[in-house]
Amino acid sequence: MSNWEERYQTGDMPGEKGEPAPGLVDFLAAHPKLLGETVCVPGGGTGHDALVWARAGFRVYGYDLAPSAVRLSRERAHAAGLPAEFRQANFLTDEPPFPFDWLFEHTLFCAIQTAARDAYVRAVARWVKPGGHYLAVNYMICEDGAGPPFRSTREELLARFAPEFELLADWTPRSYPNREGKERMFWWRRKMSVETSRRAD
Ligand SMILES: C[S@@+](CC[C@H](N)C(=O)[O-])C[C@H]1O[C@@H](n2cnc3c(N)ncnc32)[C@H](O)[C@@H]1O
Repeated sequence: MSNWEERYQTGDMPGEKGEPAPGLVDFLAAHPKLLGETVCVPGGGTGHDALVWARAGFRVYGYDLAPSAVRLSRERAHAAGLPAEFRQANFLTDEPPFPFDWLFEHTLFCAIQTAARDAYVRAVARWVKPGGHYLAVNYMICEDGAGPPFRSTREELLARFAPEFELLADWTPRSYPNREGKERMFWWRRKMSVETSRRAD
């Protein structure tokens, strides 16, 4: 059993706020005509964020390592009468069913140990199509300590993602009351590969 599954089974989930990320809710309200149809939500927990995308009309696939998170997400979707697929997967190592138009993550990067973050960046590039979008609500942590969450800074995010992704915007979003000022949203677009750009000319 993974540590995450154990946390769900013992109710040790302080990050479970019972509602979607306020920053995501505001983003979708401010951008009602986003291009694209599909979104994947890796490390999506109990499905609050995925269902906001479903409500906005996207075809949503939520993934989580923990079977309990997947089960709770499915129950939540069923109760809300919203169409969304939830599957158990290891985002870092598994292959996507297809490349997505959008990838949304909320406090997943900070849950990944530094040693696995190269794999995390490769995974985002694998799951998002060239020209597709990667939207993140990152929990910013300046101190080193026993995580999760692990140290996550704007400088590290820019250094890791800028080679393969163009930063469209970043800002401090509205957050849960105990996280005000501690989160930052990053809106990236995956660069087209040189080969793909040549073919498009
Ligand atoms: C801090 S929780 C965030 C949950 C949710 N995104 C939220 O903000 O409420 C991190 C989640 O990522 C999941 N997770 C951790 N590593 C993962 C991996 N490699 N692949 C998929 N899910 C993972 C955990 O099971 C957990 O549900």
